[in-house]
Amino acid sequence: MCGIFGYVGAKNSVDIVLNGLHRLEYRGYDSAGIAGLHQGKIVDCKEVGKVDTLEKEVKEAGIVLDVAIAQTRWATHGKPSQVNAHPHFDENRSLALVHNGIIENHEVLKRYLQEEKGVTFLSETDTEVIAHLISSYYEGDILNAVQQAVARLEGSYAIALIHRDFPDQIIAVAHESPLVVGIGRKEAFVASDTHAFAAHTREVVFLSNSEIAVVSPEKLEIFDSSMEQIEKQTEQLSIVVEDVSKGKFEHFTLKEIYEQPQAIRNAMLSRYLEDYGTAVLEELNFETHELQGIERILIIACGTSWHAGYIAAYMIEEKARIPVQVEISSEFRYKNPIVQPGTCVIAISQSGETADTLAAMRELKAKGAKVIAICNSHGSSMAREADACIAQRAGPEIGVASTKAFTSQLVILALLTLLLARMRHMDKHEGQAFLENLQKLPDQVKKVLEQAPHIEAIARQYAHHENFFFLGRGYMFPTSLEGALKLKEISYINANGYPAGEMKHGPIALINEECPTVALCGNKATYDKLLSNLNEIKARNGKIIAIAEESQKGLEKVADAIIRVPDSLDELASIPTTVVTQLLAYYIAHARGANIDQPRNLAKSVTVE
Ligand code: AGP
Repeated sequence: MCGIFGYVGAKNSVDIVLNGLHRLEYRGYDSAGIAGLHQGKIVDCKEVGKVDTLEKEVKEAGIVLDVAIAQTRWATHGKPSQVNAHPHFDENRSLALVHNGIIENHEVLKRYLQEEKGVTFLSETDTEVIAHLISSYYEGDILNAVQQAVARLEGSYAIALIHRDFPDQIIAVAHESPLVVGIGRKEAFVASDTHAFAAHTREVVFLSNSEIAVVSPEKLEIFDSSMEQIEKQTEQLSIVVEDVSKGKFEHFTLKEIYEQPQAIRNAMLSRYLEDYGTAVLEELNFETHELQGIERILIIACGTSWHAGYIAAYMIEEKARIPVQVEISSEFRYKNPIVQPGTCVIAISQSGETADTLAAMRELKAKGAKVIAICNSHGSSMAREADACIAQRAGPEIGVASTKAFTSQLVILALLTLLLARMRHMDKHEGQAFLENLQKLPDQVKKVLEQAPHIEAIARQYAHHENFFFLGRGYMFPTSLEGALKLKEISYINANGYPAGEMKHGPIALINEECPTVALCGNKATYDKLLSNLNEIKARNGKIIAIAEESQKGLEKVADAIIRVPDSLDELASIPTTVVTQLLAYYIAHARGANIDQPRNLAKSVTVE
């Protein structure tokens, strides 16, 4: 969940490495560090906090480095501190390394190194074990020492290492953690993701499991898990490096909320046929009979992507009449799944690097299932390993709280639903009506964004509360889960999403003046039932903020505040409603002075278990 970066070449390593680290900060930002060789010695600087803090220290110290490595951290073992920050070293500082992942057998190895090798540890991290283990095998051949040490590691690890005896190379190791090498003109890069060095080169080699690379300015040698040297194809990145700025917005999160009309258009662009009322998903390289032969769908995802999958389950079952099982990847990966013939897997992930979803996907592929990935990151592990990947085209999402990626996932899932439904019993007219409503979404979201001042006023009124419920029925239940997650993530308020009908089976005990309810009314099929549930809350002095469609009546008596959204089909109403919950969470977090783009304890891409 950390971001690692390395550079070997003739240019000013410090600037290149720090710039790369800034681009990886979404992966973790509780501490950062850099180390490199200069005049035959390893020089380093480590700081608690953001990359900016590290950059300031490095510049003030006037540090100059030749080959260099660095890391921005999301702590797994050992709290954020200067000594626990990466890089880590062996006892005589002959080598330095940075790591992304978790060494699951670090305690056993630590005891072995302390007792058998008399090593003294400086930090509380699992990573420091790797440095001392490699050093314990070192007899002049660093590659051999790394190969022996890696053979004893259990867990996930992407490592970049430098050694003072090898001033013009970086050793890179990848196992169950993403790592890519960038090949430049007389220079080379190592990073957790291509975005970090794409401004310098587009020629890349993705390291696969258990591969070790010796990276030099003009040579790249790669060894597989049996230590055989192998040739790997370089790939040309097609991504455009966007210097993603906030523009006129105070936060990336707010900017990305406002980018949703365009993100929705991008997700739909040339992916439907109005005349036939159906969808066209070119990346879906499945034969027609395979799509017609789908008898059940299994959706795997985490967090916000799981919420998108949950909403899609309602839609696919209702519109395409295909049974859907939605699974949280971290739970599912340890199940021994039953994959019957006719099972199609949909893996949803903004980053395409979420470790649990990747592992669940690999397990299902091993069971013979075909996997459709829906990703927003070109070149990500999931995009490369799935049988088909439908690109979200939402553009880079920097804010840790996922917003535009969620709504663009819903649009793609709606198009997939339409495609499968039209291949079954849905007729052209119903398909065209569904498309018409999809095409209204960008303007409907725009109308919601125009209500931002109204939503902000309500948010400021309720920002002091420490507990919230988000309630909904039908499609609005998983939508309420997403609304609650957004508020949790960026304002640190305890918010619970709940099926409205479930409240009286216990949670209603929490309702009082201090625990407001956000009521998501957009599921017209069960609106009357929801109104009764809201009356039950009102009867217990609960405050209610209702998000309702323009045509929905009878709320004035029960709700303390109402935010109106344009009418839409129940199966698509999650999108305009979610934009309201995003803005509500944003303005509440803003009123509480929270760090909205980089909330505490979180990271944008969760690459560890
Ligand atoms: C959402 O706001 C969070 N950042 C988090 O729940 C996220 O959705 C989850 O980690 C899944 O990420 P992915 O879509 O990149 O797989």
